Amino acid sequence: MPPTANVSDADARPPHTATSRDAAYDAAAERTRVLIVDDEPGIRRPLSMFLESQGCHVRDAEDVTTALAHFDRGLWDVVITDIAMPGKDGIELLREVKSRDPDVEVIMITGYLDVQYAIKALKMGAFDYFQKPFEFDRILVALQRVAERRLLRREAREADRLRIEQGVMAKAVLETTLGFARAVEERDRCNIGHGQRTATLAAILGTELGFDAEHVQKLREAALLHDVGKIAIDDAILNKPGRLTDEEFATIRRHAEIGDYMLSPVSFLGDIRKAVRHHHERWDGKGYPDGLAGTDIPLDARILTIADYFDSITSMRPYRQPMTVDQAESTMRADAGAFDPELLEIFLRKVRSVLAPT
Ligand SMILES: [Fe+2]
Ligand SMILES: [Fe+2]
Repeated sequence: MPPTANVSDADARPPHTATSRDAAYDAAAERTRVLIVDDEPGIRRPLSMFLESQGCHVRDAEDVTTALAHFDRGLWDVVITDIAMPGKDGIELLREVKSRDPDVEVIMITGYLDVQYAIKALKMGAFDYFQKPFEFDRILVALQRVAERRLLRREAREADRLRIEQGVMAKAVLETTLGFARAVEERDRCNIGHGQRTATLAAILGTELGFDAEHVQKLREAALLHDVGKIAIDDAILNKPGRLTDEEFATIRRHAEIGDYMLSPVSFLGDIRKAVRHHHERWDGKGYPDGLAGTDIPLDARILTIADYFDSITSMRPYRQPMTVDQAESTMRADAGAFDPELLEIFLRKVRSVLAPT
């Protein structure tokens, strides 16, 4: 008489869910859980004893129905199953187990005549198969491979989880920072909408340069944030109607550095920070804060410089009328040392076709 398979209290756990499996990995990190299914006690019992002696947590069952009862009440890493059994066969068990928990590995045990079924089982997702009679040591090697695969899967899952978490966090931080930048802009009353318009102009140039969607989005974000450092500038200077003194101008110039400093705790804003820091550099090296020249100035910053300047001179100010596109074009060309000449030409051509088509 084959021994009756028991569903012990130790196995009485809720059915498989992603959460319960992960918890089980923590609880039984190094202990492989094996469910052995074979109607022949002469294989099932010795194999169970052998694997238990090797430190595995083992349950066995004489048929598929009993095996599924075990399976639904426990957490398993591996199912080792015979193929030909009275009632439902091992192929059916494989299908059931994989539909309930795709992470569980299934090893098939085959008789001499079952090899074609074993191959079918491999195609259905079985991990491996062994033909009777087989050395138990070979099962141990297979379990080692299962453990390695399980570890890789756990690491991949953890990496995915972290990636998703970081993505969510990055989005939240970015949205908060952008909200902050909008609040800063509200203070600079002559300049409402400047960030948004600069973002649109920078995106037009970035797209014209062939940037992919992700790069254009980064450029937009940099443009929205480029003047965030103005938070540290006194309202009286920021909203002064009329010309600034040299001292006031020096104070206002600090906004580029301050913006960079403000964004420094947020590591994923690296490229955006650079664009923010350098959006007042000049092609001829006479800009600020670092006096970079030519292509030493990051490309996104050179784009922002053009978009920022164009928007500033074409927007209304209390002390002057906005320039037309023609006037802006000649003003920017006259100050050629300020801008990357190649980018400026591309920008002006594109902006003319968008804003002032002939
Ligand atoms: Fe600025
Ligand atoms: Fe600006």
